[in-house]
Amino acid sequence: MNGFYHLGELATRDIDRLVSRALSLRERAKPIRFEGRALGLLFFSPSLRTQASFQRAAGLLGIDLVQLQAGGGGVWGIECGDGAVMDGANAEHVREAAAVLGRFTDVLAVRAFPRGVSRAEDAGDPMLNGFRRFSGVPVINMESSKWHPCQALADWTTLDMLRVPRDGKLVLSWAWHPKALPQAVPNSTLTMAAQRGMRVVVHRPRGFELARDVMDEARALADNSGGSVAESDDLASFDGAHVVYAKSWGSLEHYGDASAEAAARADLRHWCVTNAWMARARPDAHFMHCLPVRRNVVVADEVLDGPHSRVIDQAENRLHAQTALLEALFSCLPLERSRPSTRAIQDAPTSAMEMQP
Ligand code: CP
Repeated sequence: MNGFYHLGELATRDIDRLVSRALSLRERAKPIRFEGRALGLLFFSPSLRTQASFQRAAGLLGIDLVQLQAGGGGVWGIECGDGAVMDGANAEHVREAAAVLGRFTDVLAVRAFPRGVSRAEDAGDPMLNGFRRFSGVPVINMESSKWHPCQALADWTTLDMLRVPRDGKLVLSWAWHPKALPQAVPNSTLTMAAQRGMRVVVHRPRGFELARDVMDEARALADNSGGSVAESDDLASFDGAHVVYAKSWGSLEHYGDASAEAAARADLRHWCVTNAWMARARPDAHFMHCLPVRRNVVVADEVLDGPHSRVIDQAENRLHAQTALLEALFSCLPLERSRPSTRAIQDAPTSAMEMQP
C-alpha cells in the first residue's frame, strides 16, 4: 500500500481486510510495533478527532510523531501553486516543504481544506497533491477539498460493527448550517456506501447537488457492488432507511461567492434532522455524523442524545481504522530507505494507491 488519498481507489477486498483488522483492534488485538519509524502529521486546518486518533494510533504502534500546525504562525506559510511568484504571505513552497518533511518521516499525513475561492483549483486538491508529488514518502489524506478517506474507512468499520446489511439503505441527508462547508465528507460517505453495496439516497434541496464527477463515480461503484445511488429533495427518501447520515455542505452553484451561497441557504433552516424525520426510517435505524456537529442546527438534541445515535462509536472507530491503516502502510515500507533524488521526487506519479499483492 503506497499512500491513502481516496477510499474508492482501494479494492473492496482490501477495504474489507482493513475493516476486519480495525474491528479486531477494537476488540483489543495486539497492534504491530514499528519502533524507529516516524509519522508526520501536518494540519493546515483544525481538527479534534483526526488529530487525537492519529496521535493515539502512532503511540499504540510505537511510531515517532512529527506533528506540525501550519498557519497561525506555527509553520512558514506554504505555497502550492506551480510557477507561483512568491511575493505574498507564503515564505516556502510545497516542493521544498514536502521534500524536507519526507526526509524526517516514513509516512506523512496532511489535512488541507479547500480555500473556497476557485472550484477548479480546489477540485485538484493542490496542497495534498503537492505533498504526494514532492515528499518521496507515502501520504495519507486527513481531509482535503475533495475526500475524507479516513472518515470513510472508519464509517465502513462502524457499519460492519453495527451489522448493517451490505445492501441496506443509507440516506445521506443535507442539513442547514450557518457556513458553506466543504464536500469532502459527503463525497466520501456517498462513494463509501456505494462501494459497500448499499442503496444510497442523497437527500438534498435543489441547488445543493454534489459534484457530477463524484455522483458518476458513486454510480460506477454501485454498479460494481450491486448497490444503487439516487437523489431526492423529498423527505420520503428516509422511508425504511437503515442509516441516516447527516451532513452540511455548500452549494457548488455559488462556489466562492459567500453572499449568494448564504442567500441560497436562507430559507432552508428547517433542514435539521429531528425525531419526526427519523420516525420515517426503520425503528432500529442508526443516526451517523462525522462530528463536529452543531446541535439543534444540523440535528436536534433529541436525535443526538437518543437511541438512534452512533456518533461516538463512529468517532472511536477513527482510532481503530487508522491504526489498521498505519499497520498496512508501515508494513509495506522497505527495510532500508534509499534517499530519492530531487528529480525522482518531482517525477513521482500523483495517483499512487496500490495495495501490494
Ligand atoms: N470527523 C473529523 O474529521 O473530525 P475532526 O475535524 O475533529 O478531525
